[in-house]
Amino acid sequence: MKKLLALVLAGMMAFSLTACGDGGSSSSEGSASDGSSAAGGEDKAVTIGVTIYKYDDNFMSYVRNDMDKIVAEMDGKVTLSMNDSQNNQSTQNDQVDTMIGSNVDALAINLVDPQAAAVVQKKAQDAEIPIVFFNKEPDLATMQEYDKSFYVGTTSSESGVEQGNVVVDYLKADADKKWDKNGDGKIQYLMMKGEPGHPDAEARTEYSVKTIKDAGYEMELLAPEDTAMWDTAKAKELMDNWYAQYGDKIELVLCNNDGMALGVVSSLTANKVNGKVMVAGVDALPEVMDYIESGDMIGTVLNDDQNQAQAVIDLAVNLARGNDPLAGTSWKFDETGKSVRVPYKAVTKENYKEFVK
Ligand code: BGC
Ligand code: CA
Repeated sequence: MKKLLALVLAGMMAFSLTACGDGGSSSSEGSASDGSSAAGGEDKAVTIGVTIYKYDDNFMSYVRNDMDKIVAEMDGKVTLSMNDSQNNQSTQNDQVDTMIGSNVDALAINLVDPQAAAVVQKKAQDAEIPIVFFNKEPDLATMQEYDKSFYVGTTSSESGVEQGNVVVDYLKADADKKWDKNGDGKIQYLMMKGEPGHPDAEARTEYSVKTIKDAGYEMELLAPEDTAMWDTAKAKELMDNWYAQYGDKIELVLCNNDGMALGVVSSLTANKVNGKVMVAGVDALPEVMDYIESGDMIGTVLNDDQNQAQAVIDLAVNLARGNDPLAGTSWKFDETGKSVRVPYKAVTKENYKEFVK
């Protein structure tokens, strides 16, 4: 009886594999949603070629692990071919060539350089392989040149606004204005940027400050904004320099991500002033939750790695199977019809417990 079942199952699998072995043209019926959250209606075995701009990035390592976990819990018919682009665009270009050469069914690309989208996309387009960019947003005009090119990420400006709100809420709650160390009514601050040119870094830098100013606070930038490239060790070094120069004048450090906020807190701790300077980040990494609890950070903004990873897998698998990219999912495209944007959320001492994983 068991043998018979196995034979029937093997026969069904062989059938479903041949049924879509013709380049996917028979797959349009796969777009019918079965109401489940799994992507697509058809279950052809597929390989998704993935690049991560560098494994050695706090936030991206969460996204990568989420992707692995999601696929491990699927039906066993999705394989990820995962690559570390080691922060080198030409390494990534070679990886994409190799994956195309080995006939992956779709690409999921975390660019090293957001400006390289056109070059990478052309490789996919020439080989007629669908491509889903994630985390580093390509130009809309580039994506519009290929009907099988999409983006999964966030609305970058929203993270700046939410980070600004974290600061404003903190200031408002501080009735005796302990934050204003020199009592001049202005916020003396420093801006630690992520990678210059990265849409998230640029938007966070602009909108965090704008939000605080729009709430009626005067701000004074102590030193020109500087980058620590999203990185904890570089952030510690930069903060050590800033502290040596500005010491107790510093009232607020805005960090484009939590990876850098961790470096800032470790520098402030070494200088025995942790908790005496307002520090805000973005990402809601598990590592910062204790600092929000202790007051070493006033807050962060959830950058939802799990939902972004899920959307990347859902779209890539659907496209790999020749389905509509959103088939069987609850994701929605923004008005461009190209991008799925997962919302951010402010995380402070009031609500951080909801975000502890
Ligand atoms: C995250 C950063 C990360 C960067 C990588 C951003 O969205 O907030 O932590 O380093 O993406 O591209
Ligand atoms: Ca002040």
